[in-house]
Amino acid sequence: MARFTLPRDLYHGKGALEALKTLKGTRAMVCVGGGSMKRFGFLDKVVSYLKEAGMEVELFEGIEPDPSVDTVMRGAEAMLAFQPDWIVAIGGGSPIDAAKAMWIKYEYPEITFEEMCVVFGIPELRKKAHFCAIPSTSGTATEVTAFSVITDYKKGVKYPLADFEITPDVAIVDPELAETMPKKLTAHTGMDAMTHAIEAYVSTANCEFTDPLAIFAIKMIQEDLVGSYNGDMTKRASMHNAQCLAGMAFSNALLGIVHSMAHKTGAVFEDLGAHIIHGAANAMYLPKVIAFNAKDETAKKRYGVIADYMGLGGANDDEKVANLIAYLRGMNDALNIPQCIKNYGADALPCEQGFVPENVFLQRLPEIAKNAVADACTGSNPRKISVEEMEKLLKCCYYDTEVDF
Ligand SMILES: NC(=O)c1ccc[n+]([C@@H]2O[C@H](COP(=O)([O-])OP(=O)(O)OC[C@H]3O[C@@H](n4cnc5c(N)ncnc54)[C@H](O)[C@@H]3O)[C@@H](O)[C@H]2O)c1
Ligand SMILES: [Zn+2]
Repeated sequence: MARFTLPRDLYHGKGALEALKTLKGTRAMVCVGGGSMKRFGFLDKVVSYLKEAGMEVELFEGIEPDPSVDTVMRGAEAMLAFQPDWIVAIGGGSPIDAAKAMWIKYEYPEITFEEMCVVFGIPELRKKAHFCAIPSTSGTATEVTAFSVITDYKKGVKYPLADFEITPDVAIVDPELAETMPKKLTAHTGMDAMTHAIEAYVSTANCEFTDPLAIFAIKMIQEDLVGSYNGDMTKRASMHNAQCLAGMAFSNALLGIVHSMAHKTGAVFEDLGAHIIHGAANAMYLPKVIAFNAKDETAKKRYGVIADYMGLGGANDDEKVANLIAYLRGMNDALNIPQCIKNYGADALPCEQGFVPENVFLQRLPEIAKNAVADACTGSNPRKISVEEMEKLLKCCYYDTEVDF
């Protein structure tokens, strides 16, 4: 038996934010990030719509990008004090993910972070509050997913929490919120969405319910991401929907090792200032992982279907896989995302502050590889991978060398 779960309600289209006026409750805790939602006036709108719905509103502000366990614990304390019956999270994947984890801790104050990380082991929620998510980036689709990614900075490791319990009750996908995204954020979150759709399509948990969502999202992202990056707001709006479709697919079909690797490399070079942004990590690793996974016959066929659907040509599945890899690398070029970790940093696109020196990468590689294999996303990858192979694959992602194993 398989399960397919989505939010009960999804409001979409320009002005969908007003759906907040229809929520029924008494107290809403609004969880938000560092300031972009306030600066652009969306936070004020959220508060006034919720008040119009007759609710008392309290804010939990300042949730940082790649939220920490500490932030989750602080947010849960604030919820315990305020006792909301609605949690409304607005912003990128970070504040929404943090709010999901706070929700668990609010409903179960005794639960530890380790217990929250047990995959599909989260106890029954909604005894105290329901959850509404409003994304302002076009990538994570956390507004419709059963996941939340929280970083343990002491260990330098990102942990995906996974359970349909944390699939939001209401998602509001309003394209106006995505219009203010700067270019780099548009690029990174867009390639995150592309990775979700492709990994979901080839995942071992794919099914007839997830395939149409995944493949259609891939096509939309192919058509709209680069234009959205270059400022076309019609394409930006389309991307906001496409990423959400990709999310519906991967929340139910799960992901693969691109995400395992992104989770385990994202925060591990933080001490050097080299934070590898989630979407950029995925964009760099995706072509390498396709080359690795295509050694599995079923996966190869499925990549072939994707290439066909994208209209990439190719006389057989090997050619189609090669065309798909080339196309995705071309998208990275068009979006100013480097092809490998070595070129990601201060001296290269996309001009992050830190960079990952070769000796540090090699020194940390065995631990990263071990952690990536153990990541929750590895189980549904179409080809099994050993720690040794993961080390080799990560090296290809560092140097941009060919995957021939
Ligand atoms: N839960 C899931 O299913 C899932 C899936 C993929 C990734 N993630 C996680 O989500 C996090 C990344 O989320 P993200 O990529 O959405 O970015 P983010 O939430 O970390 O935000 C990045 C930056 O963009 C700013 N920002 C957000 N929206 C904006 C807008 N409309 N205009 C201007 N600035 C804006 C934020 O203030 C922040 O500084 C990572 O921790 C990643 O691991 C979760
Ligand atoms: Zn992702």
